[in-house]
Amino acid sequence: MTTFAALGTPKELADTLTAQGIVEPFPIQVKTLPDTLAGRDVLGRGRTGSGKTIAFAIPLVARLAEREAKHFRKPGRPMGLVLAPTRELATQINATIEPMAKAMGLTTTVIYGGISQARQEKALRPVSTSSSPARAAWRT
Ligand SMILES: Nc1ncnc2c1ncn2[C@@H]1O[C@H](COP(=O)(O)OP(=O)(O)OP(=O)(O)O)[C@@H](O)[C@H]1O
Ligand SMILES: [Mg+2]
Repeated sequence: MTTFAALGTPKELADTLTAQGIVEPFPIQVKTLPDTLAGRDVLGRGRTGSGKTIAFAIPLVARLAEREAKHFRKPGRPMGLVLAPTRELATQINATIEPMAKAMGLTTTVIYGGISQARQEKALRPVSTSSSPARAAWRT
């Protein structure tokens, strides 16, 4: 059995996962983490529940927490964007990413349509954002 740490996951993130009982990486995580943590692009396909969210959450947070990336942090300028097709998915993805981001001193927020935009704009000091596409459109 391999571990998240053995695949290159920063200790803080591996500890966050362990605290949730997530100890043994699923296959899509084993196969993608060495490349994604090294900054390479990956296209992964796996059935529902195969662990894709954590597979992309780990490198997203790990790389944005690196010292070089932090150098580019600016209020109002999120450094990561995860697009999801529905607000429910965006919220679920944020729930996965948020504790990891917190462990690295980063913040996240969720952006979607149908509610006051001003409040979401105010929250836009994050490093990683999960967003549904309609609301994201105003930012692109
Ligand atoms: N290595 C792991 N060990 C134990 N549980 C895990 C592991 N990786 C992910 N999980 C859990 O498995 C569940 C499904 O993971 P996830 O939502 O990432 O799957 P998915 O591939 O994104 O599915 P979908 O296609 O439905 O979006 C989640 O509850 C997640 O916390
Ligand atoms: Mg998913």
